[in-house]
Amino acid sequence: MARLASQAIMQHVPTQDRIRTIIKSYLSFPAKGTTCFDPCCGEGDAILEICGDNNFLFGMELHSGRALQAKEKPFVQVLAGPFENCIISNRVFGFSLVNPPYDWMAGGKMRYEEVFMGRMNNYMVQRGVSCFIVPTSLFEYRGQDVLKMIYGNYNDVRILKYPEPEFQQFRQIVIFGVKKPAEKVTASNEWWAEEVAKITTGDLPLLELQAEPLYEVPYINPGFIKTFRVNHYDEVLAKHESQTLDFLEKLKPKATVKNLTAPYYLDKAQLALLAVGGYIDGKMPGHYLSGRYENAEIATTELDVDSGEETYTIRKTSSSVFYILTKDPDETGSRLREIR
Ligand SMILES: C[S@@+](CC[C@H](N)C(=O)[O-])C[C@H]1O[C@@H](n2cnc3c(N)ncnc32)[C@H](O)[C@@H]1O
Repeated sequence: MARLASQAIMQHVPTQDRIRTIIKSYLSFPAKGTTCFDPCCGEGDAILEICGDNNFLFGMELHSGRALQAKEKPFVQVLAGPFENCIISNRVFGFSLVNPPYDWMAGGKMRYEEVFMGRMNNYMVQRGVSCFIVPTSLFEYRGQDVLKMIYGNYNDVRILKYPEPEFQQFRQIVIFGVKKPAEKVTASNEWWAEEVAKITTGDLPLLELQAEPLYEVPYINPGFIKTFRVNHYDEVLAKHESQTLDFLEKLKPKATVKNLTAPYYLDKAQLALLAVGGYIDGKMPGHYLSGRYENAEIATTELDVDSGEETYTIRKTSSSVFYILTKDPDETGSRLREIR
C-alpha cells in the first residue's frame, strides 16, 4: 500500500478476514487460556478472532475511536495511546499479534514496524509465540537489521507470504517465531542479502490453512500483568470516561459552579491523582473538584430457622464522592458531574 494512502487511514490496514482464519490455524492455545497482546489492536477484532475469548486479551491503540470500540469487547484491558510510550512488565505475554503502522517514525531513521517488533521482544515470555504482519517494503529499507533482530530473538521462524489475491493487493507477509533469549546471530553478508532478497521479491513459502497447528502457545500469567500503562492523555477517551454511566450518577447542578468550564476533561487516572494529591475542594486551578466521604450504616436481621433466634447486624460503609466540572454542559446546562 502506498505510504500516503496508509497515512490517510492512520496506518489502519486491519488483518483481512481470510488471513485471520489462516493465522489461527497455525496456533494452538492452552485449554486454561493464556495472556495475549496486540500493541496496535485497532477495533480489537483481529486478535479476538485469532485467539478467541478463552484467552486473556490485552490491547493498545493510538486512535481513540478504535480504542473505545476495542474497550467494548472482551479484553482484560485496552490502553489508548502510542505503543512507543507504554510501560509494561517484561516477559508477560504468551502470544502477540503485531500488525503495526507501516511508516517511518518522526526523523525518518527508523520504521514503526521495526520499533514495534523490537519493543515486543521485551514483553514476550520465553517460548511465547509472536506473529508479525508487515509489508515486504520494510525489507527494502531496513532488511538486514530487521532480519537480524528476528533471528536473534526467535526460534522456529517462518516467513510466509500472503496467498493470492491478497499478496498482489497488499504485499504483506506473516512472520511467526518462538521467543528465545536474545543472542547475536552471525552469518555472512551474502546470506543476509539473499534472505532479504527472498522477501522483497516474494520468493517465500505460502501462508496457507494448516490441518494441524504448528505453534503451541504457552500458558502464562492468566490475565495478570503487574504493570500495563501508557503515558498519554486522550481527550476523546477522557470525555468518554468522565461520562461513563457506571461511575457517573445523577447530576447535581450547583449554582456557584454552574457557569464555570473545565480547561480539559479529566480521565479516571488524573482524577485519582488529583484526589490522592489533595487537590480537592477547588484547589486545582481551572478545575472544580470537590470531594467528601459519605458514611452510612446498613442494618440487617437474620433469623435462624432451627433455634428461632434473630441476629441483628450493623455494617458500616464508607464511600468517596467527587464533584467534577466537565468541559461541555449537559442537557440541563450543568457542567457538574457527581462521581461516586
Ligand atoms: C495495521 S492496523 C492493525 C489493526 C489490528 N491489529 C489488525 O491486525 O487488524 C494498525 C493500527 O495501529 C494503530 N496505530 C498507529 N500508530 C500507533 C501507535 N504508535 N501505537 C499504537 N497503535 C498505533 C492504527 O491506528 C491502526 O489501528
